[in-house]
Amino acid sequence: MELPFEPFRIRVVEPIRPTTRAEREAAIRAAGYNPFLLPSEAVLIDLVTDSGVSALSVRQWSAMHGSDESFTGSRSFRRFEAAARELYGKRHVIPCHQGRAAEHLLCRAVLAPGQVVLGNTLFATTRANIEEQGGQAIDLPIRENADPTSLHPFKGDIDLDALGRRLAEAAAGSVAFVVLTLTDNSGGGQPASLANIRAAAELCRQHRVPLLLDAARIAENCYLIARREPEHHGRSPREVARDIFALADGVFMSMKKDALGNSGGVIALDDDGWAERIRIRLLVSEGIPSAGGLAGRDLECMAAALDEMLDEAHLAHRVAQVSRLGEQLAAAGVPVLQPFGGHAVYVDGRAFCPHLANEQLPAWSLTVALYVASGVRSWEVGNVLGGRKDPSSGGWRWPALDLLRLAVPRRVYTASHLDYVARSLVELHAGRHEIRGLRFVYRPPLLPQFIATFEPA
Ligand code: F0G
Repeated sequence: MELPFEPFRIRVVEPIRPTTRAEREAAIRAAGYNPFLLPSEAVLIDLVTDSGVSALSVRQWSAMHGSDESFTGSRSFRRFEAAARELYGKRHVIPCHQGRAAEHLLCRAVLAPGQVVLGNTLFATTRANIEEQGGQAIDLPIRENADPTSLHPFKGDIDLDALGRRLAEAAAGSVAFVVLTLTDNSGGGQPASLANIRAAAELCRQHRVPLLLDAARIAENCYLIARREPEHHGRSPREVARDIFALADGVFMSMKKDALGNSGGVIALDDDGWAERIRIRLLVSEGIPSAGGLAGRDLECMAAALDEMLDEAHLAHRVAQVSRLGEQLAAAGVPVLQPFGGHAVYVDGRAFCPHLANEQLPAWSLTVALYVASGVRSWEVGNVLGGRKDPSSGGWRWPALDLLRLAVPRRVYTASHLDYVARSLVELHAGRHEIRGLRFVYRPPLLPQFIATFEPA
């Protein structure tokens, strides 16, 4: 794919320092073979996440300098509230400190133990919040989502037949809500089509079940709709976003991804009863309703980004940057998930390391090998994140895909940085049979990827 040149100039720079292989071997051993636990100075190119790590714009910084840090009633909140109401089209705008705080508030306020939440593919923190509240989280992705070779343009779609069946069979009140995660980070960063979102919304309306959006990467999803869905060719990402938000009863969003923030989250909805319950929870655990635990400058940063994130030149460059990395890997025979999504390239760990059994955690072992070989930090979305012990048999149940994720921070790395990443992974692929498997030393009961530790198997 032709890469448009960066639609920005770089005014502030942060040095990065190469390390030796011996230094990296010592660092990863000290981190319990969990790249997440490495000190950032030991990392050369950090593709562990695209969350909270964007380069801010001149407009965001100048808005932050003009912030109002009053304890309550701040002008910065009113500015954020107006921008969010305009984009989401919802009356209630409730800020909070990040995406999982929004999920926590929502689940505590409106989910009763025993209720079910259905979705295309829920993100790990959404699932954890549902399960902690005693709810049951069920993913209903389309069949193509689990097939790394399928070129379906909207692998983030929800399976409408399965959704319709579940909603029809459920006892009244047993499904708390349906969540569409746009794009579907855990299923490969894949978008859902507007036709699919519209049909899912119609099913939810028929069965009187609220439809919520996890909108962490909604801008990329909208851009990919305008690129890939024939009826929407040529529409602006903002127009597509307005259509999508109008179909949903509510939105929760980490403002650290598409919304270009270093921190922040939001819930937007129309239902007065839900909003009241969420605000009461907010007061107990996050902060006051006009701040949600954020500084005025964070609210200013988010207000500016709600406009900036949907800029077409920004999205065109970003999506092309991610695709180009994916194409370089695919051309060299590295098994990558296609088509490429918005924020990351996903590598099929089981196909890359066919000599490793599931218990030896192929994609996780690959993240460690890539770091040791090159200083590039990536993250696993696979056996460690999604593996579950079957309580009856005691055996493991592994997720459909075991992936390494190269998440590209927004406006941070240039083409030559990503060329280095591609080269490093291609070299590792040539020597892939040398990659050693790992096994758990410590596995916490929830969200293991953040704090688990490992040793060579
Ligand atoms: N929803 C999605 C789709 C996410 O990808 C994330 C976070 C969250 C919710 C939670 O938001 O981090 O602000 O609390 N994803 C990060 C990642 C951690 O690297 O993909 P948060």
